[in-house]
Amino acid sequence: MNVADSELMAQVLGEDFDLTVRAEDADLYLINTCAIRRKSEEKVKSLLGSLKPLKQAHPQLILAVGGCVAQQEGERLLAFAPHLNLVFGTKGIYRLPELVDRAARGERVVDVALERDLPDSPHRSWPPGTVQTMVTIMRGCDNFCSFCVVPYVRGRETSREPGAIVDEVAAFVAAGGLEVTLLGQNVNSYGRGLPEPITFPQLLQRLNGLPGLNRLRFATSHPRDLSPELINAFGELHALCEHLHLPVQSGANRILARMNRGYTREHYREKVASLKGACPGIALSTDLIVGFPGETEADFIQTLDLMREAGFDQAFSFKYSPRPQTRAATFPDQVPEDVKAERLARLQALQDELTQKAHARLVGREQEVLVEGRSKRSPQELCGRLRTNQIVNFIGPRELVGDLARVAITEAHPHSLKGRWVEGSATA
Ligand code: 5AD
Ligand code: SF4
Repeated sequence: MNVADSELMAQVLGEDFDLTVRAEDADLYLINTCAIRRKSEEKVKSLLGSLKPLKQAHPQLILAVGGCVAQQEGERLLAFAPHLNLVFGTKGIYRLPELVDRAARGERVVDVALERDLPDSPHRSWPPGTVQTMVTIMRGCDNFCSFCVVPYVRGRETSREPGAIVDEVAAFVAAGGLEVTLLGQNVNSYGRGLPEPITFPQLLQRLNGLPGLNRLRFATSHPRDLSPELINAFGELHALCEHLHLPVQSGANRILARMNRGYTREHYREKVASLKGACPGIALSTDLIVGFPGETEADFIQTLDLMREAGFDQAFSFKYSPRPQTRAATFPDQVPEDVKAERLARLQALQDELTQKAHARLVGREQEVLVEGRSKRSPQELCGRLRTNQIVNFIGPRELVGDLARVAITEAHPHSLKGRWVEGSATA
């Protein structure tokens, strides 16, 4: 979501500014921020501190902080960083040209009003050769999980009009795009509150009908609201990739209840079973938090058990981090830092095993790869992704970049696969 927002900021400012890679050349230095954990917030503050010499050497530079930390901290950021010119919150993106203008005239600007809608995206364009994009379909969240700052920094849920989303995806596909990831904090409740009600599976169906759209993905969906219609969509819609990110957070019912997640481990297991029934071979990824207040060793073991049972292909795991305004931050039974660290290491060791197993199952199979570019680690190789989201490196001609290729999987590695190009195959 932050990456998509950063792209939107660049686009909104596109008439007045070009992108530069050298900070010394910049007229405007804009930091988009994440408040999900304390670490990301601390990074913003240390980056701001390290920019003092740049600002001293270039007094005309406009230094701006936007996004979730800006929303959360507001005025306090100006006090923290006297060389900062502009603070704008999550609903300020479209007002950037005006806000930057005011900052350029010497004002120290703060714009963090949350009670307003972000207008719909203007017409987007993509650099030639772009094959993947993200499309925001809704913003905000009404779930109030007790650990999470998102509802406070991104405000209430609002859905974009389906027509605008379909137009945007159609324009992307017409420009040669192949893969679209739909974004929202909670896509299952997409459509609520729109003048003409529509459900998320209905939106997927409309997009699936666009000729040329080869791969459709979405993030993130909440297990509580994962409807049978959405589960069945995985078996039915040809463009919908066989991969679902379904954050479980914990495998212990006591902890799930204290997290205000609205489901139990049994519900979650049932949904996983239905998904695997509707779409055999579907890859599942998840988010996990260790050391949530009150989490005992027995609770933690339940999480490990659930991971094994669900057989996650990938997991993003985090130590619980108390966030301002959230309920869990006030819980008295906080878990010591060393216990969190120890649990995180054990959990990640288990996930490495599970990922390796999932990768090993793919060896010997021929798969479709959307080729994204040269491999970062070995530039003589190309790099792409399977529909099930694993990364594949293989040797092949440079012309395959941006195309779909058939690749025989030859090796399983902890974070990627190796393959051999099936000569002649390029389908797009
Ligand atoms: N501490 C640790 N992890 C968190 N997440 C959200 N809030 C917190 C927090 N306070 C994690 C959740 C969520 C992912 C985006 O970040 O796992 O799914
Ligand atoms: Fe945060 Fe829960 Fe909303 Fe996800 S569903 S953004 S974890 S409050």
